Amino acid sequence: MKIAINTGGGDAPGLNAVIRAATLSALQLGWQVVGIRRGFEGLLEGDGNGVVPLTEASVRGITHLGGTILGTTNRGSPLAYPQRQPDGSFIEVDRTDEIIDKLARLGVDALIAIGGDGSLRIAHALAQKGLQVVGVPKTIDNDLASTAVTFGFHTAVQTATDGIGRLHSTAESHRRVMVVEVMGRHAGWIALFAGLAGTADVILIPEIPYDLDNVCAKINSRYDGDFGFAIVVVAEGARPAGGDVTVKQSAQVGRSERLGGVAEKIADQIATQTGKETRSLVLGHLQRGGEPTAYDKVLALRFGAAAIQLVEQQQFGCMVSLNPPDIHAVPLAEAVATLKQVPVDGDIVQTARRLGVSFGD
Ligand code: F6P
Repeated sequence: MKIAINTGGGDAPGLNAVIRAATLSALQLGWQVVGIRRGFEGLLEGDGNGVVPLTEASVRGITHLGGTILGTTNRGSPLAYPQRQPDGSFIEVDRTDEIIDKLARLGVDALIAIGGDGSLRIAHALAQKGLQVVGVPKTIDNDLASTAVTFGFHTAVQTATDGIGRLHSTAESHRRVMVVEVMGRHAGWIALFAGLAGTADVILIPEIPYDLDNVCAKINSRYDGDFGFAIVVVAEGARPAGGDVTVKQSAQVGRSERLGGVAEKIADQIATQTGKETRSLVLGHLQRGGEPTAYDKVLALRFGAAAIQLVEQQQFGCMVSLNPPDIHAVPLAEAVATLKQVPVDGDIVQTARRLGVSFGD
């Protein structure tokens, strides 16, 4: 049996732990393992054969490393790969057949596809075309519906919470409003968890459109004479009621739109409306980098080992998922069907409301 592993989409702390666990589990069964370079680009861009052998030596000492030793990309999905036209323009073409051919030529029997929503859609399409695929869910945003949690999320929340914690001293000393933008394109899990843990006064998430008047009312209520400061945590995908998300870069061929800038926008509006000194910052890729937390390391190692177990059981077209306390398999079709957003009436939002947090609604 020969296994190929790939990592697609944005990196997330824990990717290397999955690679290590899957590789060691497969080697233990006497199988061969290769890693595909840079998502599927290794296979499609044709430098060498686009794969590297994964051995005990190559996965030694990587559990604690952020990023992915295989490289990744969130440009150029094989389902909509940018292809240059004679006139210099680009069109998107489906190159999944080429991937299947190349893997067959490399003698690969099964693919372990580690990725988020977009990468799992590619995995699903490949599985529908007959490739033996097992998916592993990855995203710091935690927005995949068929698993209780994805690795990377816990680390991102910890990093964001540490950052918010450090902002308190400046906010308090200067009596400022600090507006912190965290990741979370479609779902506000990072903002909600880090905002709650970091004792934010206002948490703005994509699931609950905000009204600036309500945000400002909460901020004003945090000031009393000489004292007062406020912390606002905003997910990059948050939007005002009746308004739209803040786009940093619009979609291009082979690349979806990039969000960003909502914190700066809101900070300016808050400063104008409340007259309070306001600063904003974007935590950005800090949340995706560096060593995974112990929780994420263990989850990622479990996912990697479980993926090989599914291959051993010939259970393909599935994704490993955490259904506490166990790891289960769910069909890829189900895994990509819906996104997991924050339930607006769920207990975490309710807890925050009871603590006086405003969601701006
Ligand atoms: O999907 C994970 C994520 O971190 C999103 O929250 C964010 O919108 C996106 O990746 C950013 O991607 P990039 O690295 O391309 O800027």
